[in-house]
Amino acid sequence: MSALRCAGGCEVAPSDPDALACAQCGDLLAFELDTGGADPSEIERTAQTRRASLDPRDRSGVWRFRELLPPVAESAITTLREGDVPLIDAPRGAAYAGVSGLAYLHLGMNPTASFKDAGMTVAISHARERGARVAVCASTGNTAASMAAYAARAGLTAVVIAPVDGISAAKVAQTLDYGAHVVAVEGDFDDALRAVRALDPATVAVVNSVNPYRIEGQKTAALVLLEQRGWAAPDWVVLPGGNLGNASALGKGFREARAIGLTARTPRLAVVQASGAAPFARAWRDDADLVPVRAQTDATAIRIGAPASWKKARAEVRASGGTVLDVPDDEIAEARAVIGRDGVGCEPASAASLAGLRRLVADGSIRPAADVVCVLTGHVLKDTAYAARYHASGAAHANAIVRGAGLSEYLSRLLLTHA
Ligand code: F0G
Repeated sequence: MSALRCAGGCEVAPSDPDALACAQCGDLLAFELDTGGADPSEIERTAQTRRASLDPRDRSGVWRFRELLPPVAESAITTLREGDVPLIDAPRGAAYAGVSGLAYLHLGMNPTASFKDAGMTVAISHARERGARVAVCASTGNTAASMAAYAARAGLTAVVIAPVDGISAAKVAQTLDYGAHVVAVEGDFDDALRAVRALDPATVAVVNSVNPYRIEGQKTAALVLLEQRGWAAPDWVVLPGGNLGNASALGKGFREARAIGLTARTPRLAVVQASGAAPFARAWRDDADLVPVRAQTDATAIRIGAPASWKKARAEVRASGGTVLDVPDDEIAEARAVIGRDGVGCEPASAASLAGLRRLVADGSIRPAADVVCVLTGHVLKDTAYAARYHASGAAHANAIVRGAGLSEYLSRLLLTHA
């Protein structure tokens, strides 16, 4: 069973079921899982056999681990078969970063094409169980699309507050497709999140990652990763950091898996920020509290200057023996193209992971013999404008432009050189 607690360590348990912050100290809330009676082989077996079941909960990579989640009534569960994403070998990425073993955990292979779905299925199911009519979030685009889809399934009204500039048009279109109401605000994600956190959570369901149900869903990505490796942890897991909910969630997932005995050890976590949006990397380097910044990066998903979950994320990175760093935008762009060459597309924010890994190998923090997983958080089609800009050199948006009858001749020449 899980119990809600103050993440800052206050003794008194929260009494308001809708609260998103501790009434005493204002810190975020977190679920604490009682791992005492859990039988790892039973959990492993149940999660495995459920994959062949026709129960919609069993076919979700999140809900097939439901004994490790806060309880939600079966009738409220809203699922789109999220969670079961592939772990894919990454030979080109490995060579680029300078490690012998690398795989991508592609969370962009979720129903709305980002990692948010694993958290959203739990947050929206809980909101539905509580009788909420409206779900709200601040977003750089992916939370918005995910909330909109799950809210549509659950029959809730979805309201998104998004920064007016610098958010991928593809994500806005996707969100509108699912029927959400999108409010663009002058300002950035941090302004939007402040407005959302000022709302009364008793009247609307706030489904940003300040909502602890989101974290519980997202922690299952750690289980899905371990399961695909026969429950043997890699040496390092490298992931991008923005608002820092996902680093908190993955760290919690690995820690609980270790406490239950599903895995013998936890991986070290490396959280990578874009240099223009790197308050957490700076706080880590200075061993100081986080000082918010005005964020600027082309990896718009992580253009966040005042991450809400930085304390939780710091605790997880410390507990794992990990690290935090930042990488400039041009290295993110290059790493994204390398990931593409492995036949695996991702959006720019996701590629911060590979760019960060490359730096950590270069500075000796990660050994070349290490066994590493990079977490890809969003699909390549989430930001097609970025990809098009990257490739828009010379023959603009293609390797060649062939007009009229020259095509067959062009193809014969091309095949002569490549076939
Ligand atoms: N990668 C992608 C693709 C994201 O969309 C986000 C966050 C992150 C990484 C960072 O994850 O915030 O948990 O540290 N996107 C949010 C949104 C903020 O609104 O979609 P985090």
